[in-house]
Amino acid sequence: MTTGVDLGQPQAQAIRSDEDVVRVRQLVRAVAVAVKLSLVDQTKVVTAASELARNTLVYGGGGSVEVVIVDNGRRKGVQIVFADSGPGIPDLDLALTDGYTTGGGLGLGLSGARRLVDEFQIETSAETGTRITVTKWSR
Ligand SMILES: Nc1ncnc2c1ncn2[C@@H]1O[C@H](COP(=O)(O)OP(=O)(O)OP(=O)(O)O)[C@@H](O)[C@H]1O
Ligand SMILES: [Mg+2]
Repeated sequence: MTTGVDLGQPQAQAIRSDEDVVRVRQLVRAVAVAVKLSLVDQTKVVTAASELARNTLVYGGGGSVEVVIVDNGRRKGVQIVFADSGPGIPDLDLALTDGYTTGGGLGLGLSGARRLVDEFQIETSAETGTRITVTKWSR
């Protein structure tokens, strides 16, 4: 499925369409397999990435993602950075509350994604848009 792709190098992917969201899922799955995450952890990080990619598309007006293998000397992991130049998230605490949505969704994407990964970081402002970095480590 990933023939010809060197997953040891950072993989960049635009997020402009539903098809791109599918590509993000496939890319994250491939990297999660490469760093030997368990099947359950693969599914967790793919699910988180899918939610964040969808938010990038819907609320960020599209953007990009970068998927990188990280290594802390003891473990390997998959790190995913989502970036958009959208309006930013004015109230982060509120946005991270289960059930909060401004788009008629379930309001579980952001809060759920946070629970599914090991590290979760958001930088957001009206000027620069939103950048979310998540990491899942092998155990
Ligand atoms: N990249 C983003 N840029 C701007 N606002 C965002 C972004 N991501 C999330 N938000 C805001 O945070 C809210 C909560 O996001 P979350 O993913 O939890 O819920 P949702 O997308 O509305 O519904 P669900 O993901 O459950 O279908 C969104 O409704 C939106 O207002
Ligand atoms: Mg969402």
